[in-house]
Amino acid sequence: MTPRKIIIDTDPGQDDAVAILLALASPEDVTVLGITAVAGNVPLPLTQRNARIICELAGRPDIPVYAGCDAPLSRKLVTAEHVHGKTGLDGPPMDDPTMPLQDAHAVDFIIDTLRTEPAGTVTLCPIGPLTNIATAFQRAPDIIPRVQEIVLMGGAYFEVGNITPAAEFNIYVDPEAAQIVFRSGVPLVVMPLDVTHKALTTKARVDAFRAMGSRVGDMVAAWTDFFERFDMEKYGSEGAPLHDPCVIAYLIDPHLFTGRQINVEIETQSDLTLGMTVADWWRITDRPKNALFIGDIHADGFYALLANRLARL
Ligand code: BDR
Ligand code: CA
Repeated sequence: MTPRKIIIDTDPGQDDAVAILLALASPEDVTVLGITAVAGNVPLPLTQRNARIICELAGRPDIPVYAGCDAPLSRKLVTAEHVHGKTGLDGPPMDDPTMPLQDAHAVDFIIDTLRTEPAGTVTLCPIGPLTNIATAFQRAPDIIPRVQEIVLMGGAYFEVGNITPAAEFNIYVDPEAAQIVFRSGVPLVVMPLDVTHKALTTKARVDAFRAMGSRVGDMVAAWTDFFERFDMEKYGSEGAPLHDPCVIAYLIDPHLFTGRQINVEIETQSDLTLGMTVADWWRITDRPKNALFIGDIHADGFYALLANRLARL
């Protein structure tokens, strides 16, 4: 099969980093046309820097990295240093990247790519707040029917929320952007917390990264150690969810996942439930189905895939 052309829209983030590494390690499955950074886990100057650090770690300074929106469409940025640390990539210290940041704005890159590539051949992979994607759709509605699919990490139904009792971080940060994307008509695949909280790190899984004996293996193990401390304290779980790599794993092996085609709406009005993904999992309404909402993952298969692919870098 020809590899799928993808744009990774991201706010790295240790789990974003693992997602990017997985994509760059899987050229037979995905061709990364570019990486677009957005403000999210940390402010934009750090997310675009972190994206370049990750490309260099993968030995891929040729991947074009673009900086995008530095704030949500109509709200103040909320960040998550309490999870990811001050730099967003806390763990072992990393040198500043030397590869350049592209001159073009991420939104222009997304628009130009979708206009230039044949219609229906580019998949968008947002693993941060949806500001860049929504801005591109607002500015250039002609690109919307040209998107092959959007496979994103965001939202929750059974797990409800992580940044508030009712909302998942990526959707909460920019609910208006999420609403634009969820109502765009583009085929959506959604990896909510319901799935990522079933893909927890364990000692054995992190040891497998460390056993690679490579810089990438050591970094991924150290990042997951860092990331784990927050979730272990909060949930009392053995490890931490590697949220964002689920998006790339789905593109590589969709059989690792199961879900339901349902209607998902975004709450943008209520203070209490702002950013909630109101997922009609039980198909109670006749609202139109707009997303494949993933509910389950074969976690051992997912970690085997990660270990296998990351060992290539
Ligand atoms: C999402 O929020 C971020 O903190 C992670 O990188 C992930 O994309 C999980 O809620
Ligand atoms: Ca992320």
